[in-house]
This record gives sequence, structure tokens and C-alpha cells, in this order.
Amino acid sequence: MIKIALMGAGRIGKMHASMIDANPNCRVQYIYDINLEFAKEIAGQTGAKVATSPEDAINSNDVDAIFIASATPTHVEFITLAVKAQKPVFCEKPIDLNIEKVDECRNFIKDKNVPIQIGFNRRFDNSHAKVKVASQNNEIGKLELLIITSRDPAPPGIDYLKAAGGFFRDTTIHDFDLSRFILGNDPIEKISAFGEQLVSEDSKKVGDHDTAMLVMRSKAGVLIHINNSRRAVYGYDQRVEAFGSKGMIISNNQTQSSVERFSEESTFSKDPVQFFFIERYEQAYKTQLEEFVAMINNNTEPKVSFEDGRRALILANAAYESLNSGKVVDINFE
Ligand SMILES: NC(=O)c1ccc[n+]([C@@H]2O[C@H](COP(=O)([O-])OP(=O)(O)OC[C@H]3O[C@@H](n4cnc5c(N)ncnc54)[C@H](O)[C@@H]3O)[C@@H](O)[C@H]2O)c1
Repeated sequence: MIKIALMGAGRIGKMHASMIDANPNCRVQYIYDINLEFAKEIAGQTGAKVATSPEDAINSNDVDAIFIASATPTHVEFITLAVKAQKPVFCEKPIDLNIEKVDECRNFIKDKNVPIQIGFNRRFDNSHAKVKVASQNNEIGKLELLIITSRDPAPPGIDYLKAAGGFFRDTTIHDFDLSRFILGNDPIEKISAFGEQLVSEDSKKVGDHDTAMLVMRSKAGVLIHINNSRRAVYGYDQRVEAFGSKGMIISNNQTQSSVERFSEESTFSKDPVQFFFIERYEQAYKTQLEEFVAMINNNTEPKVSFEDGRRALILANAAYESLNSGKVVDINFE
């Protein structure tokens, strides 16, 4: 039984708490959040103890691993404390919004030999993972085009937007990681990005974008397209298409049931797509947790590494450079 200190009891922290609680191989031993009410709520649901400080939770002799689901600016501090305590870490994306801070942390953890898994949950989605397998095992021949559509149902509030660090670092970062996951050993070399303010007044107020299109090119010549929106009236739109010399594979939207309706007005009419990330990626979040537990129990490497988190942020930064300069930007992962 792995005893976990969960840092953060907000939106995603609550979801992780329920999943850890439901997994027979781990439990929430401590919960820490600066919002005591949130922490108490999770303690009430899981039987966890409420920690009075980050150190209280992370350094406790009764804790084997640290699960970081608190606000982004806390991630590096909590990773550092966990590594000092020699405890395996799960950390939500992004590691941080500032690449210098991420690089400092990378230097600190380098020789410490503590496994760190980053929360790019989409890698664990059964359908998206099949696209990777098909792209890597020659099922669709030589991969030529990769197209990722990722659109949220509705824009978040202004408080979220103020802290999120910009559309590319908050949202597109998942798609950068998914692109890298599907491409495998073929690195992304160039990026060209466009962003618009078409949807959300709050996005405009904070100078953020809510609509984006990006094109990237890999070393082997695969062309990758990502499109994002903060508003899709039909629900959370999550599609991945890989096109190659021998065919195509598509990971499509998942609807709430498999029912199709036919009438005078429409054919093949389906239920709405699964509403937002907690519903759509439920299986992926569960598998992600199982992988974290297996990594600790079997002493294996994380399936999504700190370096994966760092590289996704480098792509997000390069996307901003392209957006601001109007030029194609070369990617440097060093
Ligand atoms: N992988 C995914 O699909 C996914 C989805 C949503 C959010 N996230 C990431 O998870 C993190 C949390 O996002 P959220 O949507 O739950 O946000 P949230 O605002 O709902 O929750 C953040 C929590 O962190 C707490 N917090 C703030 N400062 C703290 C501190 N110093 N110590 C302890 N707790 C502190 C807040 O009180 C709050 O309860 C973010 O990094 C976000 O990018 C990932």
C-alpha cells in the first residue's frame, strides 16, 4: 500500500483524491492545501490527515510518495522538497511557466535518482495510444501528417486566465506533449503559430488568446497541425488523426452513449460528446495513476518524464516567439 501526500485540493486535486482512494494499492495519507476547507473536504472523504505545512506532509515518515495537484507556481517548490526527502513524485502539468525555473530544478534533481512522473494524462488514453502504436509500427506506413484538434467546451473565468500563463502554456501544452509522444524518436524542429481573440472577453482583458492554429515540422519531415479553441458549443472536442503512406488512423470524440438517431431532419445524430476533461479522460487519469503506482512498486522509469514536461514548455515558448515575430521558429531542446 503506497501512502501518498496529496498537495492541492482544488478542481483536479479532488479528482485525484477520489481516484487514489478508489485504487486498492494506494491511499491519501496526507492532504495539504492553503485552502483549509478544501483540504478538510478531501480528508472527510478519504480519511487522510490534514497537513499544516508542505513539509509536514512531504517529510512525514508515514508518507511514501508525493502527488502534486496544487496551483502551477507551487510545483517546483514541492518537487524540490519531495526530491530532498527521496520520495517519488507525480506532478501535474505544467512543471512551471518559467523555463529558467524548470532548468534550475532540472539541475537540482539531476543526480538525485528520484523518479518524477509529469501529468500528461492524454498519453494514457486508450484511443490516443492506439494512434501512437499505429504510427510507430508501420500500420499506416510512413507517418506524413499528424492532426490534433483540442477544443474546450467553454472558456474559464478571468481568475483562472490570469494565473494560467497563456493559452499555449496552459492548454496547447497537452497537444505539444501528445505530438512528441506520437512522433517517438523523431524530434520536432520547427514551429509556426497563430493565435486570435475570438471567443472570450475575459481572455481579451488579460491579453490571452482563445483560438489558435499551429504547424510544426519534425526532423523526419512529418507535418503536425494543432488547432485549439476555448469554446466548442457541442462539448469537449478531442480528436487525433495520423495519416501515412498506407492509410490513416483516427482517435475520435467519445459520445455519452453509442446511440445514433435518424429522422427527417438528420441522420447519424448522436448524443453530445463527453463534457470536459474529467469525464472524457477518466480512463486516462486512472491508468496514469496505475502507472505511477507500478513505477514505484517495480522501480521503473516514469512513462512521462520531467524532461517531457520541460520539452513541452520549450515548444510553448517557441510558439509564443513565432506568434510575436510572425516567423517560423527553430526548436532548441538543449
Ligand atoms: N492534467 C490535466 O488534465 C489538468 C487539468 C486541470 C488542471 N491541471 C493542472 O493542475 C494544477 C491545479 O489545477 P486546478 O484546475 O485544480 O486549479 P484549482 O485552482 O482548482 O486548484 C488549485 C489548488 O491549489 C491550492 N494552492 C494554491 N497555492 C497553494 C500552496 N502554496 N500550497 C498548497 N496549495 C495551494 C489552491 O488553494 C487550490 O485549491 C495546475 O497546475 C493545472 O495546470 C491539469
